[in-house]
Amino acid sequence: MSLSIRRAGTGDIAAVAGLHIASWRVAYVDILDPAYLAGPIEADRTAVWTERLAAPRDDLTVLLAETRDGSPVGFVCVIHAEDPPWGRLVDNLHARPDLRGTGIGARLLAAAAAIICHGDMHLWVYAANDGARRFYARQGGREVDIQASDKVGSAGKPLWRVHWPDARRQALADATPMTISPLPG
Ligand SMILES: CC(C)(COP(=O)(O)OP(=O)(O)OC[C@H]1O[C@@H](n2cnc3c(N)ncnc32)[C@H](O)[C@@H]1OP(=O)(O)O)[C@@H](O)C(=O)NCCC(=O)NCCS
Repeated sequence: MSLSIRRAGTGDIAAVAGLHIASWRVAYVDILDPAYLAGPIEADRTAVWTERLAAPRDDLTVLLAETRDGSPVGFVCVIHAEDPPWGRLVDNLHARPDLRGTGIGARLLAAAAAIICHGDMHLWVYAANDGARRFYARQGGREVDIQASDKVGSAGKPLWRVHWPDARRQALADATPMTISPLPG
């Protein structure tokens, strides 16, 4: 699939929130509270992405993957603050549910690593999310720490911290040519 990846901005709040809601409803059906997934998730995710994207922020970057016709098909968010010794946080990586297994996840993870460029990176994945854990293992991540989730609707379910010691190596692992275009203006 021909994909382009660009920084998301104010005009992408609905697209990113929509991808996030759709992905959690499928991927976390046995992980998060069904009552949360059925309703409150919509206001909750819209509030999160409005806060992150309504104005330019130096502390995080959201990348949006689109098909050639501009349809949003996945996103990833990088939090720039260092969390020693694990490095920067990849917070949310999602491919559109009907397009899982088409390489979007690997492209977005490599794009996140390219932004981090130097140093370590890490993320959190639910212990029950077997498919994503296999995906991260294939991408060279190592599970290093397990903690109870404090996320809404999670009832403290365990999360693994997955760590990559050198983001640059991960960025280069994806050989697909990629341009991360800046926001207009
Ligand atoms: C994790 C994710 C980003 C990986 O991206 P991807 O491009 O789909 O990567 P892969 O093709 O390697 O597939 C990864 C896993 O997704 C699942 N998957 C792949 N194709 C699928 C499909 N057509 N239908 C349902 N699940 C599928 C599988 O469990 C697969 O792992 P497996 O092949 O070891 O069983 C993507 O699968 C996704 O968005 N998953 C749901 C959200 C999620 O769990 N995000 C991670 C949060 S920490």
